[in-house]
This record gives sequence, C-alpha cells and structure tokens, in this order.
Amino acid sequence: MSSNSGVRWLAASLRAARRLAPLALPVVALVALAGCASEAYPNTTFNYTTEVNEITDQLWDRLLFWATLVFVIVQVGLLYIVFRFKAKPGQPNPSHVHGNTALEIAWTAIPAVILAFIAVPTVKAIFQTQAKAPATALQVEVIGHQWWWEFKYPQYGITTANELYLPTGRPVNFALKTADVLHSFWIPRLGGKRDLISNRTNYLWFTPRDSMALKALNGTCNEYCGASHANMKFRVFTVTPAQFASWAAHQKAPAVFGAVVPAPVTPATAPAAASESTTRGGQVGTALASAEPATPVGFVFPRERIEPHTIPTATAPAGLTIQAGLTGDAERGRQVYSRSSCIGCHKIAGNPASAGVVGPNLTHLGSRYTIGAGLYANTPELLALWIKNAPAMKPGSIMPALGKGEWNPATKAKVTLGGLTDQEIVDIAAYLTALK
Ligand code: CUA
Repeated sequence: MSSNSGVRWLAASLRAARRLAPLALPVVALVALAGCASEAYPNTTFNYTTEVNEITDQLWDRLLFWATLVFVIVQVGLLYIVFRFKAKPGQPNPSHVHGNTALEIAWTAIPAVILAFIAVPTVKAIFQTQAKAPATALQVEVIGHQWWWEFKYPQYGITTANELYLPTGRPVNFALKTADVLHSFWIPRLGGKRDLISNRTNYLWFTPRDSMALKALNGTCNEYCGASHANMKFRVFTVTPAQFASWAAHQKAPAVFGAVVPAPVTPATAPAAASESTTRGGQVGTALASAEPATPVGFVFPRERIEPHTIPTATAPAGLTIQAGLTGDAERGRQVYSRSSCIGCHKIAGNPASAGVVGPNLTHLGSRYTIGAGLYANTPELLALWIKNAPAMKPGSIMPALGKGEWNPATKAKVTLGGLTDQEIVDIAAYLTALK
C-alpha cells in the first residue's frame, strides 16, 4: 500500500465513522429504554398504570419500531453506496443522469405509506384519549392558580389544594380550568399531560390500576406560567376505594381542631409514626391534647409510604428566621388568625371568620404533607417562616409578607401596619398545624 492510498484509506474510514455516528444515539436510547423499570425511574411515563399511559406507551413503541426500521434501512443503503461506488484511482468522472420516473414515484410513495402506518394508530390514540369519561367516574375539578393547584371534588363537597387523593380502580375525570394564565396538568406516572386554558374547560380521564394503590406520585405544571412555574407542584396519593371513602368523609367535614392522625397499622413502624404525628402537631398539639380528647380523623396517606422522590427538599432562605424559644399556642393562634388579613384570602371550614377564596383552602392543612404548592415540607417551622415572608420563600408569591418589619418584595416596602410578631406567627402556625 503506497503512502498515498494509505492516506486515502484513512480519510475514507474517518468519513465512514462520521456517517456511523448518528447510529450511536438511537443505540444508546434503545439500551436505556430496555432498562426502564418504573420503580427505578419513579417519574417515568413509560408504564402501564392507566389506560391513557398504556395507549401512549403502545403508540410510542410502534413509532419507535417504524422509525428504527427506516433509520436502519436508510443507513445500510447509504453505507453500501458509499463503499461500493467510491472513486477508484484513475477512474473517469461518472456520466450525469437526469430524472428517473420510477425512482421518483417510489421515493414519494414509500414515505406516504410509512406516514399512513404512523397516522392511523396516532389518530386512533387521539380519539381514545379524548373520549368522554364514563358516567361513574370520580369528578375532580382542577383549577390552576399562580402558583398552586386547587382541587375540588364536587360529588363529595370537598375543596383542597396541592394534594390529590385518587382511588384505584375507578375512572377519574379531571375538569381542567385556570384562574389566571395557562398552566398544564401532568402526573407523569399516570400519564396524559393536558393544558389548562383560559375561558374553557379541558378534560382528561383515566383509571389508576389497582397495582398503583398506596403510591405517592409527583405532579407538575408544564406550561410556563411566570416566576414560580417551576415551584408549582402537587402530590398525588393513590389509595384503595375504602381509604378514599374515609379520607373524603373527613375532608368534607370541618377540621377536627387538635385531633391527631391515627397511628399507621403496620406494627413495625407504628411507634415512630405515632411520635411523628405528635411532632407534626408541634408543642401546640400536646397543649391541646391535654385540653381536649384526641379525636381520630379520616384516612391520611401513611407517612412511611411516602417515597423520597416525592418529599420536598427545599430549605428556608438564609436570613429568614423566627425568634428562638417561642412556643406556639393553637387557641391563641386561632384568635390571631381570625382577626388578621389571612381570612381575606383563605377559607377554613369551621371558622366562620375565614371565608376567603383567593388562596388555598386551609381546612385540613394539618393533614397535608407539603406547603407552598409542594415546595416545602409541612412542618410548624417552615409554615411559620412561610407566614412570615411567603414571597421570600417562593419567588412571585401572591401571598404577601406578614411578619412585622419584613421586606415585602411585591410592595417594595417593609411590613408595618398589621404586621405579625414572631409569637403571633408561631401561634398561627400551631393553629393551622392543629387543623387535621
Ligand atoms: Cu403553572 Cu407553569
């Protein structure tokens, strides 16, 4: 081999390698998908948890198959032509050809047939996933707000926020609306992302499989909606029909003030969980428990079933603190809350002063796991900081800063008139935490 042909051979090999490069990505993707187990990827949408997910997954598999087939045929043909017809030393230039009717008809007809193969199942999937929900479906009205989720269960008379309980084995029909700008509702594990559009109602329905019972899932907003779009999250708890009935019956009723969440039934975890539910009540909970007998509340998703990927990890911003050593008193908190500006925006069933509808319904706040639309864990400490300065905790928060002397980024001024002291804030946090 002369040095000249050696160089040419190297150049041809490099060209071939460059042409092979596009193969790398699909190969890696196929290997990755083959290993896609839903438990290992808790937010994956590629699983059969609902009929919508199944339809989407089957369509995806079919499209991937045809796309891969076309890709392989084209690449094999390309490589064959590149190597079979490459220029040889001393060869004259090939003669030019113009037009080939048979070839042109073939390369028009073949893509048309391929598109038909793709279009038929796609259109079928669109009609299947847009069909009307069964009459027996659980109705859930989803209202997107900047930046939180309101959930109403009209059949049960329940209004709640940011935490969605869904029974398995029963179709759930979401009526999707927005109070302000566009949002998009998506629970990746259950599938069927759909937009919330101003002045119209979109619908989405599916049936969580029985195998999904007692799972905590993430939900997100997927349409850019302003400063805290990324902080507009929610949690979904899939539960058995009996657990749902228990939860719904309690949610419908006014909060049991000072009640404790019943200890979970698993003996191994019962002591830890029981002590945790006391902690969730805070120092306050203990003060109340001595005054009133603990009243059990309806089903609450068990803490030990909450998987790490659904637990908020956000910490309070540096510089935002509550004076150390304060102990909250729920009854005092109820009084402060009932004469503060809180009542203008929030509703608490059972507290006649609190009838606002602008902000999240707080009736059973103490039995929720998250605050700030899934951004923070619902602890008395974080709740107090949230009350003190919500805009500092969450960019763009419409809830104003309430702590006396706090800087309110919305009004660009310090809170003076009507501002709450740290003691009042801790008391309110104790009151809200006691609302089971
Ligand atoms: Cu709501 Cu993005």
